[in-house]
Amino acid sequence: MPITIDDYRLRARKALPRFVYEFIDGGAEYETCLGANRADFERIRLMPRVLRDTRRVDTSVDVFGSTWRLPFALAPTGLNGVIRPGGDAMLAAAAAESGVPFVLSTASNQRAEDVRAQAGGGEQWLQLYVMQDRRLAEQMLRRARGAGYRALVLTVDVPVGGNRWRDGRNGFRIPFRMTPRLAWDVARRPGWALRMLRGGLPRFVNLAERPADALPLEVQASLLARSMDRSLTWDSLRWLRGLWDGPLLLKGVLHAEDAALAASHGADGIIVSNHGGRQLDAAPSSISALPGIVDRVGDRMPVFLDSGVRGGADIVRAQALGARAVFVGRPALYGLASGGGKGVLDVIRLLAEDYERNMILLGLDSACGIRKAAALAQPHAP
Ligand code: FNR
Repeated sequence: MPITIDDYRLRARKALPRFVYEFIDGGAEYETCLGANRADFERIRLMPRVLRDTRRVDTSVDVFGSTWRLPFALAPTGLNGVIRPGGDAMLAAAAAESGVPFVLSTASNQRAEDVRAQAGGGEQWLQLYVMQDRRLAEQMLRRARGAGYRALVLTVDVPVGGNRWRDGRNGFRIPFRMTPRLAWDVARRPGWALRMLRGGLPRFVNLAERPADALPLEVQASLLARSMDRSLTWDSLRWLRGLWDGPLLLKGVLHAEDAALAASHGADGIIVSNHGGRQLDAAPSSISALPGIVDRVGDRMPVFLDSGVRGGADIVRAQALGARAVFVGRPALYGLASGGGKGVLDVIRLLAEDYERNMILLGLDSACGIRKAAALAQPHAP
């Protein structure tokens, strides 16, 4: 029985072909950012208080008028269909059952409407990549709004894809082209191969208005890989605001000045993130960038964090430094790879129990207490 996120990671490695596992697990270039995300979390020591009543721990947080049962949600991750056919619906259903939101990626392999219908309730958010043909974004927003998606997450740290050397070495690119190396890789994971054969090869179905219009893979791939709209600037937020009246968050902000610009351009929230170390390898860890951003805009909007959260103590650390809540990317994917929807639920439960245990050990009974105890979070001098 897995008892840590790392155990699920190991299971995922055994379940998936190498090129899929490394696509999920890997980061950009030397992976120094990926490493810093973890190392900087671990440097933060938390000071416990004793002899406090912690019989009941309130793990909930309020976000944009909703109550999340737990202080974390599932981050948007594209291409979940290569892990499991129907992976997004499994993630969304597990999140709904756990009382937390699920963020669907633009690069999902399931239609936004289907994911929402199959989630069986709960809250779904949409993550948006704006590509050169802006009509694609307009279509997606219209559909997501019609389907009942609650908030919009505009990812701003992918003006171009990061250089992920592991994918390059494995020969994993989109559109997918079989090579002898990949065929060997797939042959060693017959369970995965069988599922893919039954489920059909994943496509980017959200880039078209109707399923019948689904763009040929070549076109979709070039849209996703090479045609990010690099003319997107702060002024473009006005265009987005005109299309979306729900909460709008910017994901991938690390500079406090950018957080201030986000606030003054009408964003409702910030996700401090370096994309899990998959974009700019020289970027700082998310947790080290958090305090400056909270100082700057924390009184104006909720600040969230992702990148490197692997246990309850990390969630507490982020909250102690001012995050309202966090998002997890890979942990949920490791769960999905090792056990489908049940694997995701198990991972969420593990994080929830770990969070509660850490709170009790710190003598805290709610997230309000954590912020007051912010002085307790001491980045340890290296
Ligand atoms: C991502 N991430 C991401 N972000 C986004 O805005 N749109 C996307 O389509 C994707 N796709 C994606 C795929 C995979 C396989 C991973 C691992 C990540 C980034 C994601 O939302 C989040 O920022 C990180 O995953 C957070 O770091 P951890 O929790 O994985 O360490």
